[in-house]
Amino acid sequence: MENYFKECFKEILSQIKDYDIREKTLKTWIVAAKEGGWTKPEELEKMPFTLLTDCRGINLIEHTIAVTKGAVGLARAIESSYKPPFEINYDFLWAGGLLHDVGKLTEFELVDGQYRKSFAGKCTRHPISGAILAAKNGLPNEIINIIGCHAKEGDGRPKRIETILIHQADFATFDPMVMLRSDTLIV
Ligand SMILES: [Fe+2]
Repeated sequence: MENYFKECFKEILSQIKDYDIREKTLKTWIVAAKEGGWTKPEELEKMPFTLLTDCRGINLIEHTIAVTKGAVGLARAIESSYKPPFEINYDFLWAGGLLHDVGKLTEFELVDGQYRKSFAGKCTRHPISGAILAAKNGLPNEIINIIGCHAKEGDGRPKRIETILIHQADFATFDPMVMLRSDTLIV
């Protein structure tokens, strides 16, 4: 799976300047796949990015890339328009984007051709399992904040700016899919 992840994420990994963070980000995906029992790229190619709505073929890898690029785009829009009173760390943003949903590799399982929530996923949703995976692989606390607090687990909790940007990019890709299903997306 290592080569598969390297190929899928090469564009984003190449943006991470810190060698240690770059290597640990890739390693976290490899370890997560191992823990989740995913051994074939085809299983990930078909993995929906969420079980909460119809993903219409958009897979977890595609979602991860879109969210990461979206958050970076938002960061660049802010910095090219005004001087924010905080620093945005792009290594944290690129790495945190790549890892925000890595916990889904243990949250989901494939049974009889169907992706569903695993027992591990019932016990800990992906923000928690992803944060644990990142911590075990030696990533810094700031990236653990991004993973652990990017979804509802982070509501009302202290957050990094990068966490907020990933959260917004994540829901910009998630909400329209939910609304399409409930026929509330105006098209
Ligand atoms: Fe996500």
